[in-house]
Amino acid sequence: MAWPYAATKNDEPFTLGGAIAAATERVGIVVTATTTFEPPFTIARQTLGLDHLSSGRAGLNIVTSAGDETAVNFTREPLPSHAARYAIAEEALEVITGLWDGFGDATSLPARVDGRINEVSEIRTVDHDGPYFRLDGLLGMQRSVQGRPVLFQAGSSEAGARFAARHADVVFSGHRELADARRFRERIIELADAAGRESPPLVLPGLYTIVGRDDDEVERNLNAILDSLVLQVKLGGLKEIGIDFSGLSLDDPLPPLPEGTERHQTGLARYRRIAERLGPVTIRRFLQETALTGYFARSIGTYTQAADLVQQRFEEGAADGFVLFPGGNSFTQMRLFAENVVPILQERGLFRTSYEGTTLRDRLGLARPERSGPASTRTPERTPERQGAVS
Ligand SMILES: Cc1cc2nc3c(=O)[nH]c(=O)nc-3n(C[C@H](O)[C@H](O)[C@H](O)COP(=O)(O)O)c2cc1C
Repeated sequence: MAWPYAATKNDEPFTLGGAIAAATERVGIVVTATTTFEPPFTIARQTLGLDHLSSGRAGLNIVTSAGDETAVNFTREPLPSHAARYAIAEEALEVITGLWDGFGDATSLPARVDGRINEVSEIRTVDHDGPYFRLDGLLGMQRSVQGRPVLFQAGSSEAGARFAARHADVVFSGHRELADARRFRERIIELADAAGRESPPLVLPGLYTIVGRDDDEVERNLNAILDSLVLQVKLGGLKEIGIDFSGLSLDDPLPPLPEGTERHQTGLARYRRIAERLGPVTIRRFLQETALTGYFARSIGTYTQAADLVQQRFEEGAADGFVLFPGGNSFTQMRLFAENVVPILQERGLFRTSYEGTTLRDRLGLARPERSGPASTRTPERTPERQGAVS
């Protein structure tokens, strides 16, 4: 079986993020970057730039990439092993954080005098010499108004969970069943505690919704979305995760899914769980079950049913909030959710009715991090001309 590609007009996060920053005042803007292929300097620069453009509403979703299909966009080398990708992420993050903290807080900067924007003693370059990155880097930007961009992490294998528990402000996860989601959140809290964190990261699972006023409207909305769904599009995504149906047809029985992968361990584990629950089915049935909602939690029902699911998962310790996929990012479904489900949640005291503070950290209830640098950070010699990269 071959699979078609799906394309959008623009899926480049930083240009979109800049446009969203200009057009909005309140929403947080979280962009994804992969430490496996993108240099830490570029990631640090783009995210801090977006944080300034949005006056402290930016977040960075750190990912490690999962398949050779992604890798070939950057290099003809094979994807590094799962363990190596997390080792690279660990080192990249140390560099990124140091670069974000290179200059002091805006409030501590002296006024621009004689063309100089900072006291040299306040600048810290990232003088880093590690197995994956060697640089002596400095961004030409002050610290962000929220301290640093909010750090999201997506990738929930054991290695991913440990990485998140040590470093992330927010974990973006995905679980179909409540009990699995709760177990995962408890694991993150346990690992964060063991790592000596004062407060654990927030866990925001993906939630797919199709909503309507009553059962008839839900069915109409669901059918409209199903009509536009091409089951085969899912095949490429599954292959990237490590599930390859090449050479099989949709009506063949679902073969046993692999037990392990160097690719996307979270995705494979979640799909194995869904296959286990389905029992013996065809590939078509498996795709019908997953093409729409992936392995995320889902609510296909009335406004009240969606609010009930949110409330239950929150109150039973399975989520601190959600990453919403209304109708797989259908504009109509987003509006229906915002206009009909959110008011129910507000009535139940589960959703804000006014904004706390102005930054994304304020909205998420996260403290502003103190400026700190990695151990390898040093204060440079007095070189007043050194004010960060200008290319
Ligand atoms: C809920 C979730 C969302 C993810 N979102 C993205 C994404 O938007 N872009 C991306 O390149 N990778 C994304 N990933 C992939 C992960 O960063 C990572 O590459 C992959 O999960 C393999 O790591 P793991 O085995 O630790 O899960 C996501 C993973 C999870 C679990």
